Amino acid sequence: MSANDLAVVILAAGKGTRLKSSRAKVLHRAGGRSLVDQIVRACVPLHAKKTLAVVGHQADQVTAALEPLDVQSVLQQPQNGTGHAMQVARRALGNARIALVLPGDAPLIRTETLKALIAAHRAGNAAATLLTAVLADPSGYGRVVRKSAASVSAIVEESQLTAEQQELNEINSSIYCFTLAKLWPALAQVKPNNQHRELYLTDAIAVLAAAGETVLAQVAPDSREVLGCNTRADLAEVDRVFRERKRAELMDAGVSFQLPETVLVDPEVIAGEDTVIEPGVQLLGKTRIGARCTIRTGSVLSDATLGDDVTVEPHCVVAQSRLDDGVIIGPFARLRPDNHLKTGSRVGNFVELKKSVLGEGTKAMHLSYLGDAKIGTKSNIGAGTITCNYDGFHKYPTTIGNKVFVGSDSTLVAPVRLADGAYIAAGSTITDNVPADSLGIGRGRQVTKRGWAAKKRRELAAADAPKKSRKAGKKKTAPRKPARKLKRRSR
Ligand code: UD1
Ligand code: MG
Repeated sequence: MSANDLAVVILAAGKGTRLKSSRAKVLHRAGGRSLVDQIVRACVPLHAKKTLAVVGHQADQVTAALEPLDVQSVLQQPQNGTGHAMQVARRALGNARIALVLPGDAPLIRTETLKALIAAHRAGNAAATLLTAVLADPSGYGRVVRKSAASVSAIVEESQLTAEQQELNEINSSIYCFTLAKLWPALAQVKPNNQHRELYLTDAIAVLAAAGETVLAQVAPDSREVLGCNTRADLAEVDRVFRERKRAELMDAGVSFQLPETVLVDPEVIAGEDTVIEPGVQLLGKTRIGARCTIRTGSVLSDATLGDDVTVEPHCVVAQSRLDDGVIIGPFARLRPDNHLKTGSRVGNFVELKKSVLGEGTKAMHLSYLGDAKIGTKSNIGAGTITCNYDGFHKYPTTIGNKVFVGSDSTLVAPVRLADGAYIAAGSTITDNVPADSLGIGRGRQVTKRGWAAKKRRELAAADAPKKSRKAGKKKTAPRKPARKLKRRSR
């Protein structure tokens, strides 16, 4: 579609009073992006000559959010209504012939619907074409008063509805196409005849219709596309619809969801065929999941990259980490940023990883902290192994080679290096490098005192006996001979 005569205007200056928020309405998020970001994305494929946003409330923050989206901001100060917002945008619109106007708070709109609206406007040679929707509950919206089946005579805001107009359930979406040469004179006639003393763009419709101009209306194919976010409840509903769309997209790509309504997926997430997502999972940011993976219940993945056949057992938290083919983690594993788990490696329950590499087939199955650790292939990290990577000032690396065995409950005081085939005795505190194929053992030696416990019990029983007999009112028994001192066994 040639769109050299088309400009897009997003009205984003309002405060969003009904949200009760210190943040501008259009910067609130739904479906993983800000409202205005969602709208701009829907408009990009229209290839308009220019895209403007009218900003006002929190103009600096909104402008900053718009810049990377290649949208020019126009300041409306003060915000005297949607009609006034268009007047403010007039100069920046230059010689555009048609303007597609959208509110900043209706982010569910689809590109196809906008294309159809513009096409209807052009085909009907209209002064204005409205996108409308028929709602079971039209409350909160301006209502469309039809002149005939095809044309419109007015939009009436809810506060101004007459008793019989209360019945109308076709609403104004606030998405319109205007032929600008017709809009400007009509807007000039609009008066701020409402309780807010604002100039309503909606009032320009009645002016155009009364002047005999063509005002058309297109009903949106899916009424949910025009949902406006005026309240927190609206925001939640719009977010729900976005999430539903995203899950449907992944299902179309061959991904299975159990209880899909409980799974939250951000817009840029991708997943391969036959991957199964269990209930209560969150897939966030730029998470990429391969084929035949299983993401089990309660896991939260953000900016994670998973190969094929990966299993994330229940209740894992994974951030900015890479899991190659066949990796299994969890349940209850926490991967903080910058880990790389190579093919077939395994991380078990209550294991925390940060900036660590696990080589192919390496396992760390229980209760460990591995930070700044680089581990080779087929090594075994025993239960309770801790890398002491931080001395309170700096972080230090732990380097572990291939086929290293680290016994349970070892502390590896970094910087330290365990070479290929090294073997660490359980319970060691390792402060020195361990050469290849060597044993590292760093712990206090055990002393065994034969019979000690039995003697101790006898001593205690003897010391207790007089007290007991006193209580029972019995005669004192002679104190026992003190136990012979134990002979120290040589070590
Ligand atoms: C508006 C429409 C209503 C429609 C509804 C659809 C008007 C008068 N009413 O009502 O018919 O059913 O949208 O959601 O237009 N804005 C500015 N500058 C201003 C005022 C508003 O840029 O001075 C922006 C807001 O930021 C918002 C949009 O215009 O993005 C619409 O304003 P809002 O206050 O949400 O209007 P509604 O009451 O929802
Ligand atoms: Mg609104």
